[in-house]
Amino acid sequence: MPRLTYLGHAAFTVEGSKARIVIDPFLSGNPLATASPEEIKVDYVLLTHGHGDHLGDGIEIAKANNATIVAPNELAIYCSGKGAQIHPMHIGGAHEFPFGRVKLTIAHHGSAAPDGTYTGNPCGFLITMDGKTFYHPGDTGLFYDMKLIGQMNKIDLAALPIGDNFTMGIEDAVMAAEFLQAGLYLPMHFKTFEVIDVEPEEFVRRVRAKGQKARVLPIGESLEY
Ligand code: NI
Ligand code: MN
Repeated sequence: MPRLTYLGHAAFTVEGSKARIVIDPFLSGNPLATASPEEIKVDYVLLTHGHGDHLGDGIEIAKANNATIVAPNELAIYCSGKGAQIHPMHIGGAHEFPFGRVKLTIAHHGSAAPDGTYTGNPCGFLITMDGKTFYHPGDTGLFYDMKLIGQMNKIDLAALPIGDNFTMGIEDAVMAAEFLQAGLYLPMHFKTFEVIDVEPEEFVRRVRAKGQKARVLPIGESLEY
């Protein structure tokens, strides 16, 4: 069973039987994060888009660990220019890595690096490790194709942004949960900034009211799925 740890905001590590990955490691800039970039030991760094709260410490972590960055092509090339090893991908494409399968999904959002460099389209990730699938949609608004993603994939665990303003808010995230039919939902992308200060328990309550499973995973805590 893969073991997922929440690092705050949209950042997670997932440890499978073959490798350890980190997704969107925004740590040194996040006052709510409890882990420091130096503590992150991984084989791969997955980045959904170039915004500072997702690219975060990704390049530094990749270089310190000799890890490969998996990201949409333009963002991957940007990271390569900063000296990181990369595996570029793009929306709709899947690849079998030594640790498992990664497929890139659409995300309705923007993508530029903190220095203003345009980093292409943002993405979400369907990550299958040890036979279990985790859906990290990245920063996105609600989209009806989530229904198709749910139909085509048995999603065991999904993290959904709920903070509103930059991404889905709670109402839309509850609808996303209905589309995806995942085994368990975790809220993410809330409280880090004042403008996304929403109550994750409200999301959990509303998802449960529709007969699905949800819980808040506190920062620094882990679960197996
Ligand atoms: Ni963003
Ligand atoms: Mn964001």
